[in-house]
Amino acid sequence: MEKPDYAKGLEGVIAAESRICYIDGQQGKLYYMGYSIEDLVEQCSFEEIVYLLLYRNLPTGSELDGFSERMRSFRALPEQVKQMIHAFPTGAHPMELLQSVMAYLSSYVQHKIQHSATCNCRDTLHQVAQMATVAATYARYRDGNDYIEPRDDLSHGANFLYMLRGEEPDPDEGEIMDNCLILHAEHGFNASTFTSRVVASTLSTCYSSISAAMGSLYGSLHGGANERVLKMVDAIGDKSKVEKWVDNALSKKQKVMGMGHRVYKAKDPRAKVIEKYLQDLSDRKNNWRDYEILKEIERVFGNRMKDKGKPIYPNVDFFSGALYRLLGIPTILFTPIFAVARVGGWLAHILEQREGNRIYRPKSLYVGKKDLPFVPLEKR
Ligand SMILES: CC(C)(COP(=O)(O)OP(=O)(O)OC[C@H]1O[C@@H](n2cnc3c(N)ncnc32)[C@H](O)[C@@H]1OP(=O)(O)O)[C@@H](O)C(=O)NCCC(=O)NCCS
Repeated sequence: MEKPDYAKGLEGVIAAESRICYIDGQQGKLYYMGYSIEDLVEQCSFEEIVYLLLYRNLPTGSELDGFSERMRSFRALPEQVKQMIHAFPTGAHPMELLQSVMAYLSSYVQHKIQHSATCNCRDTLHQVAQMATVAATYARYRDGNDYIEPRDDLSHGANFLYMLRGEEPDPDEGEIMDNCLILHAEHGFNASTFTSRVVASTLSTCYSSISAAMGSLYGSLHGGANERVLKMVDAIGDKSKVEKWVDNALSKKQKVMGMGHRVYKAKDPRAKVIEKYLQDLSDRKNNWRDYEILKEIERVFGNRMKDKGKPIYPNVDFFSGALYRLLGIPTILFTPIFAVARVGGWLAHILEQREGNRIYRPKSLYVGKKDLPFVPLEKR
């Protein structure tokens, strides 16, 4: 019998209607709830974006004040969570820690609305607020430092840098960090978001939905490309060596990290914004090495692919690793930072999924054996 066609990896399959995120891959445009990412990153705080994602409209001044105050009040970690971080095996990855903490936080909710179509995640903001504290505390303990109380007078991004470093960041660096969280807050039906919706569709709690999404993000095909971009930059070492390195990579059919995207067929709009921040910080810190290597990769690889008739452009991960390095963030936190930002998007999708919910249940194409003669245990 001829094999029926099917979309491996669900590529191109429309699995649900959504009003949260629109990506115009041809033009390189990204919108959250209808607003362009350029406007949002220019004019909003991360907390404002979380509000937009959860309530589907931009807050008024007083709504934002109340929401920010509430979110900030949830930043500090309960003693039990601090103990969990302390007890976490040193060799384990912080994404596994975040995943566990997220599942554990469920026990702090008085009224778990499990098995119901509604979700109280707009009230229990600690899922969003505490992830940054967990990531920073993990890094502090790993380096032999003590827990530091979060500050409620700093933006989400600035407070994250404050907790990581133990001192208040320069306001520009705090703003860059907050904006990076905005840029990573939402991106349509990617693997982790789809995971969160599949789990939510069973009417499991939003905590287990997010915990599962984190497991999905942890995989190297999803989060983590910026870490591999930095490894590539370090392996190249100098701008003058880029051309030879790229040609060698292409001859071996090796992927150039941070380049190309399944959806964008133009430069990723997030990469454009992050590039500006990287230029700015490279200038202020008088350290241009990574930026120069990256620009040369973009030029050489871009030209080679254009000559082949397959133009490829930088994606969000191309410049972000180098930017985080200049902000003093350890590489092991790159994927956790993605999760700290994306948790707002996941919650928005969980809420949307629960409205007019239908449990996900696709089919597989069975290609195994049938009607095998059963062999009793003693005869095998
Ligand atoms: C993201 C990615 C998986 C998208 O892959 P895709 O959907 O197959 O991309 P395209 O269809 O546009 O690829 C067109 C061609 O360019 C090649 N190509 C795409 N990205 C490439 C890259 N980064 N390095 C080398 N070649 C690449 C593809 O292999 C394909 O070649 P082929 O026609 O000979 O098979 C791919 O670009 C990639 O692996 N990038 C590097 C990893 C990365 O940065 N991931 C983070 C994504 S946010």
